[in-house]
Amino acid sequence: MHMSRLRKVLDPTRTGKDAESLERTLLKLVVGQDEAVEQIVNIYQMNLTGLSAPGRPVGNFLFLGPTGSGKTRTVEATAEALLHNPRAVIKIDCAEFQHSHEIAKLIGSPPGYLGHRETHPLLSQEVINQHHTESVKLSFILFDEIEKASDALWNLLLGILDKATLTLGDNRKVDFSRAMIFMTSNLGANEMNALINPKLGFQTALPSPQASCSDEQLNKKISRTGIEAARRKFTPEFMNRIDKVVVFKPLGEPELRRILDLELREVQQRTLFCTAGKTFAFTVSDSGKNLLLAQGTDLKYGARHLKRAIERLVVHPISNLLATNQINTGDWIQADVNPKADCLVFTKEAEGLEPQTIAGMIGENFRVPPLVAAAYVQSDATKVVAAKPAKR
Ligand SMILES: Nc1ncnc2c1ncn2[C@@H]1O[C@H](COP(=O)(O)OP(=O)(O)O)[C@@H](O)[C@H]1O
Ligand SMILES: [Mg+2]
Repeated sequence: MHMSRLRKVLDPTRTGKDAESLERTLLKLVVGQDEAVEQIVNIYQMNLTGLSAPGRPVGNFLFLGPTGSGKTRTVEATAEALLHNPRAVIKIDCAEFQHSHEIAKLIGSPPGYLGHRETHPLLSQEVINQHHTESVKLSFILFDEIEKASDALWNLLLGILDKATLTLGDNRKVDFSRAMIFMTSNLGANEMNALINPKLGFQTALPSPQASCSDEQLNKKISRTGIEAARRKFTPEFMNRIDKVVVFKPLGEPELRRILDLELREVQQRTLFCTAGKTFAFTVSDSGKNLLLAQGTDLKYGARHLKRAIERLVVHPISNLLATNQINTGDWIQADVNPKADCLVFTKEAEGLEPQTIAGMIGENFRVPPLVAAAYVQSDATKVVAAKPAKR
Protein backbone atom coordinates (compact mmCIF):
# COMPACT_ATOMS: atom_id res chain seq x y z
CA MET A 1 0.00 0.00 0.00
CA HIS A 2 1.30 3.40 -0.85
CA MET A 3 1.45 5.94 1.95
CA SER A 4 2.74 9.45 1.64
CA ARG A 5 4.45 10.84 4.72
CA LEU A 6 2.65 13.82 6.18
CA ARG A 7 5.33 14.91 8.69
CA LYS A 8 3.07 17.24 10.56
CA VAL A 9 4.49 18.13 13.97
CA LEU A 10 1.94 17.77 16.76
CA ASP A 11 1.62 19.70 20.00
CA PRO A 12 1.60 17.41 23.04
CA THR A 13 1.40 20.30 25.50
CA ARG A 14 -2.26 20.99 24.74
CA THR A 15 -4.75 19.26 27.01
CA GLY A 16 -8.32 18.19 26.35
CA LYS A 17 -11.43 20.14 27.29
CA ASP A 18 -12.03 18.38 30.63
CA ALA A 19 -8.44 18.64 31.79
CA GLU A 20 -8.41 22.27 30.77
CA SER A 21 -11.51 22.95 32.77
CA LEU A 22 -9.94 21.25 35.80
CA GLU A 23 -6.86 23.42 35.36
CA ARG A 24 -8.90 26.59 35.16
CA THR A 25 -10.84 25.76 38.33
CA LEU A 26 -7.75 24.73 40.26
CA LEU A 27 -5.89 27.88 39.33
CA LYS A 28 -8.80 29.87 40.72
CA LEU A 29 -8.99 27.94 43.99
CA VAL A 30 -5.31 27.38 44.70
CA VAL A 31 -3.06 30.42 44.78
CA GLY A 32 0.59 30.43 43.80
CA GLN A 33 1.11 26.67 43.53
CA ASP A 34 0.95 26.31 39.77
CA GLU A 35 3.30 23.36 39.63
CA ALA A 36 1.00 21.28 41.82
CA VAL A 37 -1.93 22.21 39.60
CA GLU A 38 -0.03 21.31 36.46
CA GLN A 39 0.96 17.89 37.77
CA ILE A 40 -2.57 17.03 38.86
CA VAL A 41 -3.94 18.11 35.49
CA ASN A 42 -1.35 15.98 33.66
CA ILE A 43 -2.20 12.90 35.68
CA TYR A 44 -5.93 13.51 35.22
CA GLN A 45 -5.46 13.87 31.48
CA MET A 46 -3.63 10.52 31.35
CA ASN A 47 -6.45 8.95 33.31
CA LEU A 48 -9.12 10.38 30.99
CA THR A 49 -7.43 8.99 27.92
CA GLY A 50 -6.93 5.61 29.60
CA LEU A 51 -3.15 5.82 29.50
CA SER A 52 -2.48 5.55 33.22
CA ALA A 53 -0.24 2.62 34.09
CA PRO A 54 -2.47 -0.40 34.77
CA GLY A 55 -2.55 -1.94 38.23
CA ARG A 56 -1.41 1.25 39.92
CA PRO A 57 -3.22 4.18 41.46
CA VAL A 58 -4.18 6.94 39.04
CA GLY A 59 -1.39 9.02 40.56
CA ASN A 60 0.90 9.04 43.58
CA PHE A 61 1.79 12.53 44.75
CA LEU A 62 4.12 13.67 47.48
CA PHE A 63 3.47 17.25 48.58
CA LEU A 64 6.22 18.93 50.57
CA GLY A 65 6.49 22.46 51.89
CA PRO A 66 5.62 24.65 54.85
CA THR A 67 2.46 24.56 56.93
CA GLY A 68 -0.41 26.60 55.54
CA SER A 69 0.90 26.77 51.98
CA GLY A 70 -2.07 24.91 50.49
CA LYS A 71 -1.09 21.23 50.37
CA THR A 72 -4.34 19.98 51.85
CA ARG A 73 -6.33 22.70 50.10
CA THR A 74 -5.02 21.54 46.72
CA VAL A 75 -6.42 18.06 47.33
CA GLU A 76 -9.75 19.48 48.49
CA ALA A 77 -9.86 21.79 45.52
CA THR A 78 -9.34 18.85 43.16
CA ALA A 79 -12.29 17.06 44.78
CA GLU A 80 -14.27 20.29 44.58
CA ALA A 81 -13.49 20.68 40.90
CA LEU A 82 -14.17 17.07 39.90
CA LEU A 83 -16.74 15.83 42.43
CA HIS A 84 -18.29 19.20 43.37
CA ASN A 85 -17.48 18.58 46.99
CA PRO A 86 -14.25 19.72 48.67
CA ARG A 87 -14.89 17.27 51.47
CA ALA A 88 -14.96 14.24 49.19
CA VAL A 89 -11.44 13.39 50.33
CA ILE A 90 -10.57 10.37 52.47
CA LYS A 91 -8.10 11.80 54.97
CA ILE A 92 -5.75 9.63 56.95
CA ASP A 93 -3.85 11.55 59.58
CA CYS A 94 -0.76 9.34 59.87
CA ALA A 95 0.06 10.55 63.37
CA GLU A 96 -3.16 8.92 64.59
CA PHE A 97 -2.14 5.44 63.47
CA GLN A 98 1.05 4.83 65.40
CA HIS A 99 0.19 1.51 67.03
CA SER A 100 -0.93 -1.77 65.55
CA HIS A 101 -4.35 -1.64 67.19
CA GLU A 102 -4.88 1.69 65.48
CA ILE A 103 -4.03 0.17 62.13
CA ALA A 104 -7.06 -2.07 62.73
CA LYS A 105 -9.19 1.08 62.42
CA LEU A 106 -7.95 1.37 58.85
CA ILE A 107 -8.12 -2.24 57.71
CA GLY A 108 -10.34 -3.96 60.30
CA SER A 109 -9.25 -6.89 62.42
CA PRO A 110 -9.06 -10.54 61.34
CA PRO A 111 -12.24 -12.65 61.75
CA GLY A 112 -12.47 -14.20 65.20
CA TYR A 113 -10.79 -11.27 66.86
CA LEU A 114 -12.61 -9.56 69.65
CA GLY A 115 -14.50 -6.69 68.13
CA HIS A 116 -14.20 -7.99 64.58
CA ARG A 117 -17.86 -7.50 63.84
CA GLU A 118 -17.95 -3.96 65.10
CA THR A 119 -15.02 -2.67 63.08
CA HIS A 120 -15.82 -0.83 59.92
CA PRO A 121 -12.48 -0.36 58.27
CA LEU A 122 -11.79 3.22 57.23
CA LEU A 123 -10.24 2.02 53.99
CA SER A 124 -12.88 -0.42 52.71
CA GLN A 125 -13.92 -0.37 49.05
CA GLU A 126 -17.29 1.18 49.94
CA VAL A 127 -15.65 3.96 51.89
CA ILE A 128 -13.13 4.88 49.24
CA ASN A 129 -15.78 4.77 46.49
CA GLN A 130 -18.42 6.66 48.45
CA HIS A 131 -17.98 10.00 46.69
CA HIS A 132 -18.01 8.73 43.11
CA THR A 133 -20.47 10.58 40.89
CA GLU A 134 -22.29 9.56 37.72
CA SER A 135 -19.54 10.93 35.56
CA VAL A 136 -16.43 10.81 37.75
CA LYS A 137 -15.36 7.53 39.34
CA LEU A 138 -12.27 8.76 41.11
CA SER A 139 -11.29 8.64 44.77
CA PHE A 140 -9.01 11.11 46.50
CA ILE A 141 -7.01 9.68 49.37
CA LEU A 142 -4.86 11.93 51.50
CA PHE A 143 -2.20 10.59 53.86
CA ASP A 144 -1.29 13.60 55.96
CA GLU A 145 2.10 13.99 57.69
CA ILE A 146 3.51 10.70 56.44
CA GLU A 147 6.80 11.27 58.23
CA LYS A 148 4.84 10.31 61.37
CA ALA A 149 3.59 6.99 59.98
CA SER A 150 4.43 3.81 61.91
CA ASP A 151 6.16 0.90 60.17
CA ALA A 152 2.88 -0.99 59.88
CA LEU A 153 1.18 1.93 58.19
CA TRP A 154 4.21 2.46 56.02
CA ASN A 155 4.06 -1.12 54.69
CA LEU A 156 0.39 -0.74 53.98
CA LEU A 157 1.07 2.47 52.11
CA LEU A 158 3.86 0.92 50.02
CA GLY A 159 1.45 -1.79 48.85
CA ILE A 160 -1.16 0.76 47.84
CA LEU A 161 1.36 2.90 45.97
CA ASP A 162 2.86 -0.01 44.08
CA LYS A 163 0.02 -2.46 43.40
CA ALA A 164 -3.05 -0.33 44.04
CA THR A 165 -4.31 -2.96 46.46
CA LEU A 166 -4.80 -3.25 50.16
CA THR A 167 -5.71 -6.42 52.02
CA LEU A 168 -8.19 -5.92 54.82
CA GLY A 169 -8.10 -7.80 58.14
CA ASP A 170 -10.66 -10.28 56.83
CA ASN A 171 -8.65 -10.80 53.63
CA ARG A 172 -10.93 -8.83 51.34
CA LYS A 173 -9.00 -6.80 48.78
CA VAL A 174 -9.49 -3.09 48.23
CA ASP A 175 -8.72 -1.77 44.77
CA PHE A 176 -7.05 1.65 44.56
CA SER A 177 -6.64 1.76 40.80
CA ARG A 178 -9.22 4.53 40.56
CA ALA A 179 -7.63 6.58 43.33
CA MET A 180 -5.31 9.53 43.37
CA ILE A 181 -3.04 9.14 46.38
CA PHE A 182 -1.73 12.31 47.98
CA MET A 183 0.86 12.29 50.72
CA THR A 184 1.95 15.39 52.57
CA SER A 185 4.88 16.14 54.78
CA ASN A 186 6.37 19.25 56.37
CA LEU A 187 9.80 17.73 55.93
CA GLY A 188 12.40 20.34 55.08
CA ALA A 189 9.97 23.18 55.79
CA ASN A 190 12.25 24.78 58.38
CA GLU A 191 15.19 24.82 56.01
CA MET A 192 12.96 26.24 53.29
CA ASN A 193 11.74 29.00 55.58
CA ALA A 194 15.32 29.85 56.46
CA LEU A 195 16.00 30.33 52.75
CA ILE A 196 13.18 32.77 52.19
CA ASN A 197 12.88 34.28 55.64
CA PRO A 198 13.75 37.85 54.61
CA LYS A 199 11.41 37.68 51.65
CA LEU A 200 8.29 36.89 53.61
CA GLY A 201 5.67 39.12 55.14
CA PHE A 202 5.56 42.81 54.49
CA GLN A 203 9.27 43.33 54.28
CA THR A 204 9.07 43.37 50.52
CA ALA A 205 9.60 47.12 50.58
CA LEU A 206 12.90 46.69 52.36
CA PRO A 207 15.87 45.46 50.42
CA SER A 208 16.54 41.95 51.65
CA PRO A 209 19.86 40.11 51.58
CA GLN A 210 18.34 37.87 48.95
CA ALA A 211 17.11 40.70 46.77
CA SER A 212 19.76 39.86 44.22
CA CYS A 213 18.57 36.29 44.01
CA SER A 214 15.79 36.06 41.46
CA ASP A 215 12.50 34.46 42.41
CA GLU A 216 13.07 31.64 40.02
CA GLN A 217 16.47 30.82 41.45
CA LEU A 218 15.08 30.98 44.94
CA ASN A 219 12.19 28.70 44.00
CA LYS A 220 14.62 26.18 42.56
CA LYS A 221 16.66 26.31 45.75
CA ILE A 222 13.54 25.76 47.82
CA SER A 223 12.50 22.80 45.68
CA ARG A 224 15.91 21.24 45.93
CA THR A 225 15.96 21.67 49.69
CA GLY A 226 12.59 19.93 50.02
CA ILE A 227 13.45 17.05 47.74
CA GLU A 228 16.81 16.50 49.41
CA ALA A 229 15.13 16.39 52.82
CA ALA A 230 12.69 13.79 51.49
CA ARG A 231 15.47 11.67 50.03
CA ARG A 232 17.32 11.71 53.34
CA LYS A 233 14.28 10.65 55.31
CA PHE A 234 12.40 8.28 53.00
CA THR A 235 13.66 5.01 51.51
CA PRO A 236 14.41 4.78 47.78
CA GLU A 237 11.72 2.10 47.43
CA PHE A 238 9.19 4.66 48.63
CA MET A 239 10.52 7.56 46.57
CA ASN A 240 10.51 5.38 43.45
CA ARG A 241 6.79 4.81 43.78
CA ILE A 242 5.96 8.50 43.74
CA ASP A 243 4.90 9.86 40.36
CA LYS A 244 5.33 13.50 41.29
CA VAL A 245 7.05 15.25 44.16
CA VAL A 246 5.79 18.82 44.41
CA VAL A 247 7.41 21.32 46.72
CA PHE A 248 4.89 23.94 47.77
CA LYS A 249 6.22 27.47 47.91
CA PRO A 250 5.93 29.58 51.04
CA LEU A 251 3.26 32.20 50.40
CA GLY A 252 4.28 35.83 50.04
CA GLU A 253 2.27 38.99 50.33
CA PRO A 254 0.69 38.97 46.83
CA GLU A 255 -0.47 35.36 47.30
CA LEU A 256 -1.89 36.07 50.75
CA ARG A 257 -3.76 39.03 49.32
CA ARG A 258 -5.44 36.80 46.75
CA ILE A 259 -6.19 34.16 49.37
CA LEU A 260 -7.75 36.87 51.54
CA ASP A 261 -10.20 37.63 48.73
CA LEU A 262 -11.02 33.94 48.35
CA GLU A 263 -11.55 33.57 52.07
CA LEU A 264 -13.71 36.68 52.30
CA ARG A 265 -15.83 35.28 49.51
CA GLU A 266 -16.15 32.10 51.50
CA VAL A 267 -17.30 34.09 54.53
CA GLN A 268 -19.81 35.88 52.36
CA GLN A 269 -21.00 32.53 51.06
CA ARG A 270 -21.42 31.35 54.66
CA THR A 271 -23.49 34.40 55.59
CA LEU A 272 -25.96 33.52 52.83
CA PHE A 273 -26.75 30.29 54.65
CA CYS A 274 -26.55 31.59 58.20
CA THR A 275 -29.15 30.23 60.57
CA ALA A 276 -30.48 33.72 61.09
CA GLY A 277 -31.69 33.46 57.49
CA LYS A 278 -30.78 37.02 56.75
CA THR A 279 -29.59 38.07 53.35
CA PHE A 280 -27.25 40.99 53.43
CA ALA A 281 -24.34 42.32 51.46
CA PHE A 282 -21.00 42.39 53.20
CA THR A 283 -17.92 44.16 51.91
CA VAL A 284 -14.48 44.98 53.28
CA SER A 285 -12.78 48.25 52.33
CA ASP A 286 -9.22 48.20 50.98
CA SER A 287 -7.83 49.52 54.24
CA GLY A 288 -9.83 46.85 56.05
CA LYS A 289 -8.19 44.23 53.87
CA ASN A 290 -4.78 45.68 54.61
CA LEU A 291 -5.43 45.37 58.31
CA LEU A 292 -6.48 41.75 57.90
CA LEU A 293 -3.34 41.05 55.91
CA ALA A 294 -1.09 42.76 58.43
CA GLN A 295 -2.67 40.84 61.31
CA GLY A 296 -2.88 37.62 59.35
CA THR A 297 0.65 37.38 58.04
CA ASP A 298 2.82 34.89 59.80
CA LEU A 299 5.93 33.14 58.70
CA LYS A 300 5.24 29.88 60.41
CA TYR A 301 1.61 29.14 59.68
CA GLY A 302 1.11 30.62 56.22
CA ALA A 303 -2.50 31.14 55.22
CA ARG A 304 -3.73 29.39 58.35
CA HIS A 305 -2.86 32.46 60.34
CA LEU A 306 -4.74 34.62 57.85
CA LYS A 307 -7.84 32.45 58.24
CA ARG A 308 -7.65 32.81 62.01
CA ALA A 309 -7.41 36.60 61.66
CA ILE A 310 -10.54 36.55 59.49
CA GLU A 311 -12.44 34.43 62.02
CA ARG A 312 -11.41 36.71 64.86
CA LEU A 313 -11.79 40.09 63.19
CA VAL A 314 -14.69 39.40 60.82
CA VAL A 315 -16.70 36.28 61.57
CA HIS A 316 -17.02 36.67 65.36
CA PRO A 317 -18.15 40.30 65.20
CA ILE A 318 -20.64 39.57 62.41
CA SER A 319 -22.15 36.72 64.34
CA ASN A 320 -22.65 39.04 67.32
CA LEU A 321 -24.20 41.68 65.07
CA LEU A 322 -26.60 39.08 63.68
CA ALA A 323 -27.50 37.68 67.09
CA THR A 324 -28.36 41.16 68.35
CA ASN A 325 -30.39 42.04 65.24
CA GLN A 326 -28.03 44.84 64.29
CA ILE A 327 -27.83 43.25 60.86
CA ASN A 328 -31.03 42.53 58.96
CA THR A 329 -32.12 41.35 55.55
CA GLY A 330 -31.48 43.95 52.91
CA ASP A 331 -28.56 45.58 54.71
CA TRP A 332 -25.22 46.48 53.27
CA ILE A 333 -22.55 46.12 55.93
CA GLN A 334 -19.05 47.38 55.30
CA ALA A 335 -15.97 46.59 57.39
CA ASP A 336 -13.37 49.33 57.59
CA VAL A 337 -10.49 50.14 59.93
CA ASN A 338 -11.00 52.32 62.97
CA PRO A 339 -8.98 55.55 63.21
CA LYS A 340 -6.35 53.84 65.34
CA ALA A 341 -6.09 51.19 62.66
CA ASP A 342 -6.06 48.37 65.14
CA CYS A 343 -9.40 46.71 64.54
CA LEU A 344 -12.28 46.65 62.10
CA VAL A 345 -15.39 48.77 62.47
CA PHE A 346 -18.65 47.66 60.96
CA THR A 347 -20.94 50.21 59.39
CA LYS A 348 -24.41 49.84 57.98
CA GLU A 349 -24.07 51.62 54.66
CA ALA A 350 -27.61 50.97 53.44
CA GLU A 351 -30.75 49.06 54.34
CA GLY A 352 -33.86 47.73 52.64
CA LEU A 353 -31.96 46.68 49.54
CA GLU A 354 -33.71 44.42 47.06
CA PRO A 355 -32.28 40.92 46.68
CA GLN A 356 -31.14 41.67 43.17
CA THR A 357 -29.19 44.70 44.35
CA ILE A 358 -27.47 42.53 46.92
CA ALA A 359 -26.89 39.94 44.23
CA GLY A 360 -25.17 42.55 42.14
CA MET A 361 -22.99 43.60 45.04
CA ILE A 362 -21.78 40.17 46.00
CA GLY A 363 -20.92 39.25 42.47
CA GLU A 364 -21.09 36.14 40.40
CA ASN A 365 -21.18 32.44 41.08
CA PHE A 366 -22.60 32.35 44.54
CA ARG A 367 -24.80 29.59 45.83
CA VAL A 368 -27.91 31.18 47.30
CA PRO A 369 -30.69 29.73 49.45
CA PRO A 370 -33.75 28.54 47.46
CA LEU A 371 -35.99 31.34 48.71
CA VAL A 372 -33.53 33.99 47.65
CA ALA A 373 -32.99 32.16 44.38
CA ALA A 374 -36.71 32.40 43.69
CA ALA A 375 -36.61 36.14 44.29
CA TYR A 376 -33.65 36.45 41.97
CA VAL A 377 -35.31 34.51 39.20
CA GLN A 378 -38.42 36.67 39.48
CA SER A 379 -36.39 39.81 39.47
CA ASP A 380 -34.39 38.64 36.49
CA ALA A 381 -31.04 39.02 38.22
CA THR A 382 -28.52 37.10 36.21
CA LYS A 383 -25.46 37.38 38.32
CA VAL A 384 -26.26 34.83 40.98
CA VAL A 385 -26.59 31.13 40.30
CA ALA A 386 -29.05 29.16 42.37
CA ALA A 387 -27.59 25.92 43.60
CA LYS A 388 -27.58 23.47 46.43
CA PRO A 389 -26.30 24.77 49.78
CA ALA A 390 -22.57 25.09 50.10
CA LYS A 391 -20.93 21.90 51.24
CA ARG A 392 -17.89 23.57 52.72
N1 LIG B 1 -2.10 28.25 48.08
C1 LIG B 1 -3.31 28.45 48.65
N2 LIG B 1 -4.36 28.83 47.89
C2 LIG B 1 -5.57 29.03 48.45
N3 LIG B 1 -5.84 28.89 49.76
C3 LIG B 1 -4.83 28.50 50.57
C4 LIG B 1 -3.52 28.27 50.05
N4 LIG B 1 -2.73 27.91 51.07
C5 LIG B 1 -3.50 27.89 52.16
N5 LIG B 1 -4.76 28.27 51.88
C6 LIG B 1 -5.86 28.44 52.86
O1 LIG B 1 -5.34 28.13 54.15
C7 LIG B 1 -5.92 26.96 54.67
C8 LIG B 1 -4.85 26.06 55.26
O2 LIG B 1 -4.02 25.56 54.25
P1 LIG B 1 -3.69 24.02 54.08
O3 LIG B 1 -3.95 23.61 52.70
O4 LIG B 1 -4.38 23.23 55.14
O5 LIG B 1 -2.13 24.04 54.39
P2 LIG B 1 -1.11 22.85 54.47
O6 LIG B 1 -1.84 21.56 54.20
O7 LIG B 1 -0.08 23.16 53.43
O8 LIG B 1 -0.55 22.92 55.84
C9 LIG B 1 -6.65 26.31 53.51
O9 LIG B 1 -7.81 25.65 53.93
C10 LIG B 1 -6.98 27.47 52.60
O10 LIG B 1 -8.17 28.06 53.01
MG1 LIG C 1 -2.24 19.92 55.48
